[in-house]
Amino acid sequence: MPKKIEKIKEEFFASCPTGLEEMLASEIKPLSHVSIEVTKGGVHFTAPAQTALELMLCSRMASRIYKKAYSFEIKIEKDLYFFAKEIKWKGLFELEQTFKISVVQSKSRDGKKWSKFKNSMFLAQNLKDGIVDRFRLDCKGERPSVDKDQADMNLLLHVEPNVNQHSVKETATILIDMCGAPLSQRGYRDTNFSAPLKENLAAGLVMLSGYNGSQTLFDPMCGSATIIIESLLIKGNIPPSYIAIDDILENNDDHYWDFMKHNWFIKDKYLTDEWAKLLKTYHKKIDDGFEALDKSESKTIASDSESYAINASKFNLKAAGLFDYVKLFKEDATKVTLADENSGLIITNPPYGERIGEEERLPTLYYEFGENLKNNFKGFKAYIFTGNLPLIKKISLKTSKKIILFNGAIDSRLVEYTLF
Ligand SMILES: C[S@@+](CC[C@H](N)C(=O)[O-])C[C@H]1O[C@@H](n2cnc3c(N)ncnc32)[C@H](O)[C@@H]1O
Repeated sequence: MPKKIEKIKEEFFASCPTGLEEMLASEIKPLSHVSIEVTKGGVHFTAPAQTALELMLCSRMASRIYKKAYSFEIKIEKDLYFFAKEIKWKGLFELEQTFKISVVQSKSRDGKKWSKFKNSMFLAQNLKDGIVDRFRLDCKGERPSVDKDQADMNLLLHVEPNVNQHSVKETATILIDMCGAPLSQRGYRDTNFSAPLKENLAAGLVMLSGYNGSQTLFDPMCGSATIIIESLLIKGNIPPSYIAIDDILENNDDHYWDFMKHNWFIKDKYLTDEWAKLLKTYHKKIDDGFEALDKSESKTIASDSESYAINASKFNLKAAGLFDYVKLFKEDATKVTLADENSGLIITNPPYGERIGEEERLPTLYYEFGENLKNNFKGFKAYIFTGNLPLIKKISLKTSKKIILFNGAIDSRLVEYTLF
């Protein structure tokens, strides 16, 4: 029978695309009363809950934010059942709400040992059975249902072996997903366009380029305009959550993110008051941001050779409320020029073989695009993001920097060229 359950109070984990962890850390550091630890794929941080709530509103890099709830040590899978049965789950969610469990097993902190448990489904099942049996005890035999698609409470079970080589115990931590839908889904996207960049990854590319809003920014293979939209949000310092904030305040949507229906939040009067204040502060930032865009004189330019991409860009830019701030046109990136500009940033994500049948023409596309940059964009800095590493060699320009990033599971590079 297991011994000790630790109730975790002020610890969180924010996940992000691999390669953007330091950028995410630099968003968290300025928030109040926070201490952080950067790891692969995200940042652990200790802070009061209102700091995590603020991060929900201000982070451009985070995919999800998790609140750590409980941790304990297990020797065998069944321990999870006994621990879970000890926890008062009603403090976290209601009988009528649905739940789901995901499992992540990792190496030990020193990277030397893998989790010994072979079957993550069996881990999840033991945790689920413990939760259900606890509810049965507390709710006259009734239990909450599992919903695999749209649960009210998404729990993440993280299992990690102890660093001590001889220990047979592993640490199980239960985290609560505060988001539901990932934060990267800002809410402006036409879902019909295939292979768009995730919004937080696009924001990461823009931040890594050193864009500060005063330079001309051009994406000549804009697809559905994700890089362009994220650059405009950065330029105006518009919170990435601006569509969510409008929805919450104007439509009284009190279920927009999952934490808004969780007991640990709803039943904490101080926290709900702090949240209301944060929403007000960030709502004001939206107005200020659009005002800043209205006043800005630097240009944002987007083009693509395909009509369907131009249409997707139009749709997204309009949904984002940013259509008026962009010059958008149809043109081949191997031929495009910008007659009025003699410096600026080009940030683009050319095709990398994600669509069937395009592989053959890509070496020529990358070569000719590189030649166009060389001949017609002197004074610019170009940033090319691709998940097809051999194609980078087709560009006959001197690389000034290469940054490793992951686009989902695809090992990718952001390559910098200084054009002169
Ligand atoms: C990977 S997608 C870009 C996705 C975009 N970053 C987004 O988030 O939606 C590549 C884009 O390059 C465009 N493209 C391919 N060849 C091109 C060319 N020669 N000139 C301009 N655009 C081109 C495609 O139409 C496609 O929209």
